[in-house]
Amino acid sequence: MSTDDVGALGYRRVDEASDPAALLAGMVANARWDATVNLREWERHHLRLSTGERLLDVGCGLADAARALAEDLGPAGDVVGIDASSLMLDAARSDWVVACPARFVLGDAQTLEQPSGWFDAARSERVLQWLPDPAAAVRELARVVRAGGRVSLIDTDWGSLRLDIGDADLADAVRRTMRVERARPSRVGRRLVDLVRECGFRDILSSHATQVWSRWDPDASPAPDGCFPMRDLAQDCIDADELDPDDLDRFVSTSHEAARHGRFTMSLTMHAVIATRP
Ligand SMILES: C[S@@+](CC[C@H](N)C(=O)[O-])C[C@H]1O[C@@H](n2cnc3c(N)ncnc32)[C@H](O)[C@@H]1O
Repeated sequence: MSTDDVGALGYRRVDEASDPAALLAGMVANARWDATVNLREWERHHLRLSTGERLLDVGCGLADAARALAEDLGPAGDVVGIDASSLMLDAARSDWVVACPARFVLGDAQTLEQPSGWFDAARSERVLQWLPDPAAAVRELARVVRAGGRVSLIDTDWGSLRLDIGDADLADAVRRTMRVERARPSRVGRRLVDLVRECGFRDILSSHATQVWSRWDPDASPAPDGCFPMRDLAQDCIDADELDPDDLDRFVSTSHEAARHGRFTMSLTMHAVIATRP
C-alpha cells in the first residue's frame, strides 16, 4: 500500500504498474503472513471441497490458494482462475503443479463471463478492496455458483491498521488516515457478511485474523515483511491531511529507530466469510 496503490493503480491494474515484479513478490510475501495462513486453513476446512467439484478463484493472483484447495478436488475436479492481470495469470499457469486441471483466464470480477450456476464453489481473496463496485463482484460470484454452492471471501480492513512506534501523535495520524476510504473500498473486509447477506446467502460463517509485525530490521529490508515502506505510509497520512509534510522525515526516522530497538508494532485485521447459495 503506497500512495500509488491506494489512489491510482496498485493491484487494480498490475500490468500497468511501474514495478509489476514488486506486486507479484508482494503476493508471495502476503501468503506467508500468519493471518493469511490461518484464514486460508479456516477456509479450506469450512469450504469442504470434495472430489470432482468445480472451483472458481476470482482475482486469483498467483493462484497459490487455489493450488492448495485443488488438492481436495483431485484429478476429476476443475479450477478456473480469473484475474485482470496477464502477468499474474502467466505466473499462476507456470506454477500449477497439482493433478487437478486448471484454466487461467483474463477477466473482470464485476462482469464474469462464466455461465450461471456452473461452479460448486467460488472464492475471492483480497480483491474486493481494489474494485470500484465490490457488491457487483459478490453478485457475480452468487450468479455463477449452483444452488447449494458456496462462496468464500477473504479481505482486509485497512481501517484496522495500527502503528505503535512510541509516539501517540503519529499513531493517531495513521488511525485517522485509515478510518476513511479514499479512492477504493479499503475497509471492505468488515462488510463481507453484509455483502453475502444482501445476495441472499444462508449459513454464513465468518472469521478474522490479525497480522502483527513486531520484528523488522529497517537496515536490512526497506519494509516489514510483505508491507510498504514507512515513507509511503507517512505520505498517505500527508495526502489525507492528517500529517504535516514537515513531519515526514520524523515519521520515518521514529519508525526506523523504534524497529531498531524492538519497539515497533504494526497490526492489520483481515476478515473471511463462507456462505451457501440457497
Ligand atoms: C492483492 S492481489 C490478491 C491475489 C490473490 N487473490 C491472493 O490472495 O493471493 C489482488 C488481485 O486482484 C486482481 N484484480 C484486481 N482488479 C481485478 C478485477 N477487476 N477483476 C479481476 N481481478 C482483479 C489483481 O490483478 C491481483 O491479482
